[in-house]
Amino acid sequence: MAKFGAQSTAEQVSEGVDLSGRSAVVTGASTGIGLEAARVLALRGAHVVMACRNLDKAGAARERLIAGGAAPDRLEIRRLDLASLESVRAFSRDLLADNRPLPLLLNNAGLFQLSRQETSDGFEMQFGVNHLGHFLLTNLLLERIRSSAPARIVSVSSGAMHFASLTAELDDPNWEKRRYRGWRAYGDSKLMNLLFTGELARRLEGSGVVAHAVHPGGVRTELGRDAPLPMRLLTIPLAPFLRSPARGAATPVWASVSPECAKTTGGYFADCAPARAHALAGNRDVEARLWARSAELTRIA
Ligand SMILES: NC(=O)c1ccc[n+]([C@@H]2O[C@H](COP(=O)([O-])OP(=O)(O)OC[C@H]3O[C@@H](n4cnc5c(N)ncnc54)[C@H](OP(=O)(O)O)[C@@H]3O)[C@@H](O)[C@H]2O)c1
Repeated sequence: MAKFGAQSTAEQVSEGVDLSGRSAVVTGASTGIGLEAARVLALRGAHVVMACRNLDKAGAARERLIAGGAAPDRLEIRRLDLASLESVRAFSRDLLADNRPLPLLLNNAGLFQLSRQETSDGFEMQFGVNHLGHFLLTNLLLERIRSSAPARIVSVSSGAMHFASLTAELDDPNWEKRRYRGWRAYGDSKLMNLLFTGELARRLEGSGVVAHAVHPGGVRTELGRDAPLPMRLLTIPLAPFLRSPARGAATPVWASVSPECAKTTGGYFADCAPARAHALAGNRDVEARLWARSAELTRIA
C-alpha cells in the first residue's frame, strides 16, 4: 500500500528527513504551496531561499512563519520576478556569487490569468512566468546544481496540462496568431513544465541530479486572484473540496526529499505517487523542440 496519499501533509511526507546543511530555492514562496513548502523544508533543517517578486509580502509571510516557530536563519528572502528575464538573471547571478551548494530547486511559482497580459520582455504572461522564467532560472543554476549532486529539480505542474495540446502552440507561444484563451494558455504552460522536466531529466542522466514534475491537487490558495469576479464567486462552493496548502505542498515536498524519488528521474507525481501524464509526456521530439525554442527566446546557448 502507498505510504502517502491525497490526505498527507508536507510535514508528514518529510518526517524523519534531515536537511541540515542543505540549501534549497523555492520560487513563489510568499504564499500558498510555496510558502508551506519553504516552511517545511526549513523545519527539516534546510537553508531555504524564498525567491519572491514582492519583498514586502514575502517579508510578512516570513515573519508569520517565524512567529509560528520557524528558525529565522533558515529562511532567506531574495527578489525574483519571473516575468522579467533580467530579474531572473540578476537573481541567479547573486545566488551563484554565494558559492553555496544548491541541491534542491523547487520551481513552484505560477499564475493563472484569463485575460492576455505580457511580461516585461513581451511574452504572454503564463508562458513567460510559468515556463520560460523557470526554464532560464534552471539553466542558469544548472552547473551549481550539478556540482551539488545528489540534487533535485522539482517543477510544480498541474493536471490542467490535460487542457493543452501544444502542437500549434510551440509555433505561437505568445498567442499572437490565435484568439487568446487563458485556460488553454495556463494548461499549455503547465504541460511545458512537464515536457521541460522530461528533457531536463534526459540531459541530466547519470549526473546525480534528478528532475520531477508534480501536480499538487486542487489547493485553496491565491492562484485564482486574477480571475474575474463572477468566476471567483462561482468557485466559492468548490472551496470545501480543495485541499489546504499543508496538503497541497505534500507532493512537491515528497518529490523533493523522499528517498523513493531520488531513485528515478523524469517522474510525474500526484498524491505522492506516479500519475497519468499528458499524452505528449516522453515525446522526445516535442520536448526537444520546446527546449530549443525556449533556449532561443531566453538567449541561452
Ligand atoms: N492551487 C491549485 O489548485 C493548483 C493546482 C495545480 C497546480 N498549481 C500550481 O502550484 C503552483 C503554486 O501555486 P499556488 O496554488 O500556491 O498559487 P498562489 O497562492 O497564487 O502562489 C503563487 C506564487 O507564485 C508567485 N508568483 C506569481 N507570479 C510570479 C512572478 N512573476 N515572479 C515570481 N513569483 C511569482 C506568487 O507571488 P505573489 O505572492 O507575489 O503573487 C506566489 O508566491 C503554481 O505553479 C500553480 O500553477 C496550483
